[in-house]
Amino acid sequence: MSRTLTLALSKGRILEDTLPLLSACGIEPAEDPDASRKLIIGTNRDDLQLLVVRASDVPTYVEHGGADLGVAGRDVLLEHGGTGLYDPVDLGIARCRLMVAGPKGGAPAGRRPRVATKFVHLARQYFAQQGRQAEIIKLYGSMELAPLVGMADLIVDLVDTGNTLRANGLEPLEEILPISARLVVNKASLKTEPDRVGALTRDLAAAARAAQST
Ligand code: ATP
Ligand code: PRP
Repeated sequence: MSRTLTLALSKGRILEDTLPLLSACGIEPAEDPDASRKLIIGTNRDDLQLLVVRASDVPTYVEHGGADLGVAGRDVLLEHGGTGLYDPVDLGIARCRLMVAGPKGGAPAGRRPRVATKFVHLARQYFAQQGRQAEIIKLYGSMELAPLVGMADLIVDLVDTGNTLRANGLEPLEEILPISARLVVNKASLKTEPDRVGALTRDLAAAARAAQST
């Protein structure tokens, strides 16, 4: 009997967009992961289970072997950094853009802008690459609030429809990166379980390609 493979996912859009791809591969969760309080959910395949973790924790679980595979946004993977993961497949789901945003007209000229974000590494890297000085302020969410209360001049956040920015009187200003979710694989798992990990990776990649072409 082979050991159970584990795929880490996060509740919300990653789960919502990944379940149809799993379904196209013939994989169904034993119960609705969005509704369940369980953190480990079996599937119709004896050798595969799902792990439900915070979106920003997916790379950590996969890197440290808590999961063999995972699905995470490119934003989360780049912010996590490190070399402990294979990133073999762009699933093309949960698409959005990492952007600099702020009030109309941007930051006031003549001084170093204060930039609120949960993506501190990506923001620091972006401003440094541009040769621009910036003070980065770490937040864990609702970055749109920071300019409204005068705590920051700009934010670095994910933008899809732009509705959240607009609702808070902000505008998208500069695109940093296009974002989509990737399948990531633990390096040791790929070595110890090349057939099963390889087959699941190929099947999900094919399902993702088929979904994008419809
Ligand atoms: P955490 O719980 O770790 O704070 P989170 O609340 O940001 O994470 P989600 O909002 O579910 O988690 O986002 C998961 C991923 O989905 C993000 O890392 C990003 O790649 C993508 N994403 C985030 N916002 C959007 C959006 N508005 N439209 C499309 N994709 C998005
Ligand atoms: C994400 C992101 C933005 C919003 C952008 O937040 O942090 O706030 O989506 O999407 P839009 O351009 O379509 O409005 P999310 O909805 O995931 O809430 P969160 O702050 O709990 O992550």
